[in-house]
Amino acid sequence: MDKKDFYQLVENRKSIRKFKKDPVPKDSLERILAAAMQAPSGKNRQNWRFYIVQGKKRDEYLKHSQKSWLGIKDVLKARLKPSLYDFTERFFFTLGDAPVLIFAFSHNSSEEKYLTSIGSVYMAVENLNLACTVEGLGCCTMGAPLEIKDDVIKFLDLTGDPEIKSKELELLCGVVVGYPDHNPPKAPRQIEGRIHWLE
Ligand SMILES: Cc1cc2nc3c(=O)[nH]c(=O)nc-3n(C[C@H](O)[C@H](O)[C@H](O)COP(=O)(O)O)c2cc1C
Repeated sequence: MDKKDFYQLVENRKSIRKFKKDPVPKDSLERILAAAMQAPSGKNRQNWRFYIVQGKKRDEYLKHSQKSWLGIKDVLKARLKPSLYDFTERFFFTLGDAPVLIFAFSHNSSEEKYLTSIGSVYMAVENLNLACTVEGLGCCTMGAPLEIKDDVIKFLDLTGDPEIKSKELELLCGVVVGYPDHNPPKAPRQIEGRIHWLE
C-alpha cells in the first residue's frame, strides 16, 4: 500500500450520524470485524467481544438509545450550538437510521492491568472504524450506551452470563454502522499542547 493511501485513510475517517437504510452485506461486516481483531492487545489476550445487532432487535434498541440521551443532553446543551444539539438529539432518537449496531465489550482479567484490557478493545474499535471507511461504510463510536449499561446488558440477554455477573465482561461502547447519508465536515484537530518531545 502506498504510504499516502494510509494517511489519507486515517484522515478520511470521520464519525457518521446519518445513514441510508440499505442493509450492510454480511461479508462487509465480517471483514470489518476481522480487521478489528487484527488489533494488538495486552498479552495478546484478544479480549474484545462484539455483539452485532440488526433487524427488529436493532429497532428495539431505539427506546434505550432515547433513554441514554437523558444522561448526556445537559452536558451537550452547554457545549454544542443549537443546530448541532438538535441534530445530536435526533441521532439518539433514530441512531441516524443505521441498520447495524455493534456493542464492544472487554473481557477483563486479574492477569492483566485493567487499563491495558480496555485500551486493547479500543484499538480494535479504531481498526473497525478504519475498515468501515475502506468499505464505503460510515460509523460512529458511542460512549452513550454506558449511561444505560444495565439496560444494554438486559437488551443483549446477558443478565445471567457468569462473566457479566463477575464483572469480567464489561461494556465499553456501541458503534453504529451503515452507508453514509451525509458528508459532515471533518472535525478540526488541535495539535497545541498534545505532543511533548524530549531529548
Ligand atoms: C470513546 C468514544 C465515545 C464517543 N461517544 C459518542 C456518543 O455517545 N455519541 C456521538 O454522537 N459521538 C460519540 N463519539 C464520536 C466523537 O464525538 C467523535 O469521534 C469526535 O467528535 C471527533 O469527530 P470525528 O470522529 O468525526 O473525527 C465518541 C467517540 C469515542 C472515541
